[in-house]
Amino acid sequence: MAEGWDAMARWYDDKQGEEGDLWHRELIDPTLWRVIGDPAGLDVLDLGCGNGYVARRMARAGARVTGVDASPAMVERARAHEARQPLGITYLVADAARLDALASSSYDLVVSNMVLMNVEHAEGAIHEASRVLRPGGRFVASLSHPCFDIWESSGWQIEMVGTQRIAWRKVRGYRQQQAAKVPWRGPQGETWETWTYHRPLSWYFRRLREAGLAVTALEEPKPTEVFLQESPQVWIADVPLHCVFEAIKVSR
Ligand SMILES: C[S@@+](CC[C@H](N)C(=O)[O-])C[C@H]1O[C@@H](n2cnc3c(N)ncnc32)[C@H](O)[C@@H]1O
Repeated sequence: MAEGWDAMARWYDDKQGEEGDLWHRELIDPTLWRVIGDPAGLDVLDLGCGNGYVARRMARAGARVTGVDASPAMVERARAHEARQPLGITYLVADAARLDALASSSYDLVVSNMVLMNVEHAEGAIHEASRVLRPGGRFVASLSHPCFDIWESSGWQIEMVGTQRIAWRKVRGYRQQQAAKVPWRGPQGETWETWTYHRPLSWYFRRLREAGLAVTALEEPKPTEVFLQESPQVWIADVPLHCVFEAIKVSR
């Protein structure tokens, strides 16, 4: 399932750069960083690392970092950053659901930024995150909000109510697990497709608990002023399209 990510790797790398694009920098990541806290001195795995900007930020903050991604082209981009400016990060190509190269109980923190809804075997990925964590270690992940952002099954409905322009978030088929192709458009009109998988929120909580991970935080990122000025989707201030959870390894 890495083909779409492979094909867009160069564009995605340019888009995310060192700080993430507008959506990451001004909406999702501030909450992610707050939940992560200070990673100095920790062994950290960036699961679904993309171009590695999250891995690099944590390495610069003093963490020992491994990045894993299923897309060889993404990992190549991440390794190129490492070659230009070494931070001691190791990158591996692997499916998040099969981290055979990584030893059990070897990380203090597994971070996964906007990845789980793209992983076909997310149950396996959650189990692997737990396996590689030390007891008491944390799994911190951001993802498309399962309650409000279901590709092809959710959307904004804008309505005039009196003199007010109101945005309603419409959702259908929430309880059904669904897979859908997401189209991406590059600057030169290139088109790529990736897969997204919807699972209800309770599905994630159950799989985490079965993997010995207890949820200790659930946050719903709010946009910054910069985001509201630069993005047309100002309604995200009202209804969150992303969530960030923290789960602690309590057993296994
Ligand atoms: C939306 S991108 C996020 C990348 C990066 N975490 C970021 O914040 O920029 C999703 C990433 O998940 C990776 N991915 C998709 N399925 C995967 C899987 N089964 N195992 C590991 N990585 C996967 C893709 O290759 C892509 O790099």
